Amino acid sequence: MRNTRWKAASRAAIALTSAGALAAGMALILTAPAAAGTTLGASAAEKGRYFGTAVAGFKLSDSAYTTILNREFNMVTAENEMKMNATEPQQGQFSYGAADQIVNHARSRGMSVRGHTLAWHSQQPGWMESMSGSALRSAMLNHVTQVATHFRGQVVAWDVVNEAFADGSSGGRRDSNLQRTGNDWIEAAFRAARAADPGAKLCYNDYNTDNWTHAKTQGVYNMVRDFKSRGVPIDCVGFQSHFNNDSPYVSNYRTTLSSFAALGVDVQITELDIQGASANTYRSVVEDCLAVARCNGITVWGIRDSDSWRASQTPLLFNSNGSKKPAYDAVLAALNNGTTPTDPPTDPPTDPPTDPPTTPPPGQGGCTATVSVNQWTGGFVATVRVTAGSSAISGWTVTIGLPSGATVTNAWNANRSGNTGTTNWTNVAYNGQVGAGQTTEWGFQANGTAGTLSPTCSAR
Ligand code: XIL
Repeated sequence: MRNTRWKAASRAAIALTSAGALAAGMALILTAPAAAGTTLGASAAEKGRYFGTAVAGFKLSDSAYTTILNREFNMVTAENEMKMNATEPQQGQFSYGAADQIVNHARSRGMSVRGHTLAWHSQQPGWMESMSGSALRSAMLNHVTQVATHFRGQVVAWDVVNEAFADGSSGGRRDSNLQRTGNDWIEAAFRAARAADPGAKLCYNDYNTDNWTHAKTQGVYNMVRDFKSRGVPIDCVGFQSHFNNDSPYVSNYRTTLSSFAALGVDVQITELDIQGASANTYRSVVEDCLAVARCNGITVWGIRDSDSWRASQTPLLFNSNGSKKPAYDAVLAALNNGTTPTDPPTDPPTDPPTDPPTTPPPGQGGCTATVSVNQWTGGFVATVRVTAGSSAISGWTVTIGLPSGATVTNAWNANRSGNTGTTNWTNVAYNGQVGAGQTTEWGFQANGTAGTLSPTCSAR
């Protein structure tokens, strides 16, 4: 259930401090049930979303950098360290040190990781740049398999293929050594990634795909529709959203996001930066994502302006000295004020319920859980969606009884107790707070056969 059928509880946060309390070294904070978040990650989590940033591994020794990273974000993308030239510098010799450092930094602090990227025409190692034909196809698929296997269970999503479409009016594929191995190279990469890490969401990622009327946007849309119709394993589409004077934010961006979502994929804003960092434009981007139920996260491409690949455009949320810019305040406010999703689900209910639901009782919160299963011979992935009732919740426990022979091997975005029989699952640090009527998603992989799973949910 993605749409909210009753009005979200009004939210308020009251912070009271008194001179006496401060003098005694304590601050008295009274918080209404659904407190507005005070960081990007917490506020996004209240809306069932994440807020992420690109991280450069060599900056993890900069404490000004990590202070902001650790405080504000709950999703991390390696800016360069998982690219093909970084992970397979010599053919068949894999190098994961820099990427592992970022993954460990993130996961040990409760942040999730988006993998970026398994196959791309750019930032290829030299040996691959000079390859072609079937040798290149095999080398690319081996790379996808090896890298996705290494990070299996550690990344929640992969940009499997990056930037495969051409700019301009053709709406077709970009010419590249990978494209010249055959038009099916993209789906071959997705199938290899699914086989190597069945638990990760598999995304196609690109830039200049924000304007719904652009040929490139339509070209990607048609590919995703084709993939869905033929069962090619694709779960999500990433919109880099590098907005600048040449490719500005446009008001039909929300239409683009919701149109892709209606194909049955999640959508994510994966590399957001905006030349000049207009607070209004940042606010619009956040509002557009929140308006689309399947837009489940936003990642900015760097922390401070000085960290940006386009530093001279000052496109990010923090000044080079680490202070918050007006765009930061706009993003935080938009996350906290966010409206509930307005796009219709692909299967909209025909009649609104005439009576308010009796469980959970209005005002008393609670949660519901639904599960969808992707079964293959000998194993399955279960994707579980936890939806808060009429009040925000600050934690959840889901119980799922597994049939005999089914054993959990891997899980993401939830803590588990038990791998067989009755299994209990609780939120991790960043997805326990779920706003009224909002949803958060987690999952697990298991050996065996799922049968019909009937999850139950209880809230804190
Ligand atoms: C950029 C990095 O930010 C730079 O440090 C690097 O020199 C080049 O790549 N689209 C993508 C990202 O998918 O990987 C790119 O990142 C920016 C454009």
